[in-house]
Amino acid sequence: MPDSCDAASAAKERIIEGLPLRSTHHIGIDFGTTNTSIAGLMPDGSLQLAGFPFLGQLTAAYRSLLYFEQAPGKAGGLPSTFCWTGPAGIEHYLAADSRGRLIQSLKSFLTTRNLEGTQIFERKRTIEELIGRILSDVRLEASRQFGLDIRHATVGRPVHFVGADSVADDNYAEDRLADAFSLAGFDTIAFELEPVAAAYQYETTLDHDELILIGDFGGGTSDFSLVNVGPSIRRRGRTDADLVGNAGVGLAGDAFDAQIVRHLVSPALGSKTWYRSMDKRLPMPAWPYAGLERWHQLSFLKTNEVIEQLEVIKAQALEPQMIDALIYLIKYELGYQLHQSVQKLKNALSSAEEAEFEFVDGELVIREIVKRADFEDWIARELGSIARCVDGLLTSTRVAPADVDAVFLTGGTSLVPAVRGIFESRFGAGKIRTGNEFVSVALGLALRAGAH
Ligand SMILES: Nc1ncnc2c1ncn2[C@@H]1O[C@H](COP(=O)(O)OP(=O)(O)OP(=O)(O)O)[C@@H](O)[C@H]1O
Ligand SMILES: [Mg+2]
Repeated sequence: MPDSCDAASAAKERIIEGLPLRSTHHIGIDFGTTNTSIAGLMPDGSLQLAGFPFLGQLTAAYRSLLYFEQAPGKAGGLPSTFCWTGPAGIEHYLAADSRGRLIQSLKSFLTTRNLEGTQIFERKRTIEELIGRILSDVRLEASRQFGLDIRHATVGRPVHFVGADSVADDNYAEDRLADAFSLAGFDTIAFELEPVAAAYQYETTLDHDELILIGDFGGGTSDFSLVNVGPSIRRRGRTDADLVGNAGVGLAGDAFDAQIVRHLVSPALGSKTWYRSMDKRLPMPAWPYAGLERWHQLSFLKTNEVIEQLEVIKAQALEPQMIDALIYLIKYELGYQLHQSVQKLKNALSSAEEAEFEFVDGELVIREIVKRADFEDWIARELGSIARCVDGLLTSTRVAPADVDAVFLTGGTSLVPAVRGIFESRFGAGKIRTGNEFVSVALGLALRAGAH
């Protein structure tokens, strides 16, 4: 039986009934791990971004999340399930007395073959349905704003999806993403690599040709393309040879957040403490903290069994107040709030040499000053993987750093100074170009759509 959470519900479709159907592909959609944006290339050649209200402001970055809540049925009837996506999802989650399910970073699950979906209250929902629900809301709102019934789009995909070990994995993830678009009411879509899309956007700023390296760092993936761009290339018509090479690695901002949890939050919740079992002294098990690192899965930890196990450990713990804090966090599903604190610290460290981590909820207080240098130590392994990926691209394409005219860094995670540092040290600070961190891919996809 369809409920209000189906990807394309008839009631929502009515919002855009009667709008003209545009047969041309002039819409670009960047479905990101963290944020989704949608841009249109207008008939007068201008680019327009859909804006979404959030906390009294308009933002082009629609959070790629869903929130489900269940209300008891009237007079003993079946309960009803409600869901919201994007900013409305966050608002309802924060306003709820007893929390439902908040689901995020869905794009990172597309390669996981044994994860078809997840049980949400009494119904199992596939990953495609969940993504489709987000895309449907974005499509309908953008249709309303642009004044056209959006059914076709050029959509982005990373060079390699999170967790992809082979071309087959990437194809599998792309097929699932295409299915999600179809469930969301799209008739046709064309895929373009996200960094290549960003190159299209960057190209509009140029009055001469360049060989550019694009680095797009998001929530889930870091993607690179080496592309020849510029006015004369556009005039003569682009060829396959203009795309010199691509590379990508399935880690970015979410992986940085996990390291902040591992090094700062988990120790405050007892990860490095001990408990007594019989006459032995044992270290705290790792599993509750692994769940915390994938913070958006925190709600999966909240089962009676987990709480009971932790209560038993707490009774024997050498520092029971820390385990108590961990139980509190899980019981009250404070994953979103915790992650907000993590992101606030990370963002602050992008512009300051040190910043305070602060998480306060009732009696649970975690406060710590963190130096940027410490954060950089915590993410050293991830930075190494990113650097190796860039070097690998240069080697495989036989392009020397001196041959690259400019490096365009985009995506939210490109704001991390250590990420920029990887490029400054290889190409020189003078070659680095930045801007449009959250929308360059969507804008480029719309330009690409216009070029079809
Ligand atoms: N000021 C900042 N400093 C550091 N990181 C930031 C900053 N602002 C946002 N981020 C991070 O940027 C990421 C989101 O960036 P973006 O919107 O480009 O990703 P996405 O497109 O959703 O993901 P992907 O491209 O991997 O699918 C998040 O991890 C967020 O924490
Ligand atoms: Mg992105």
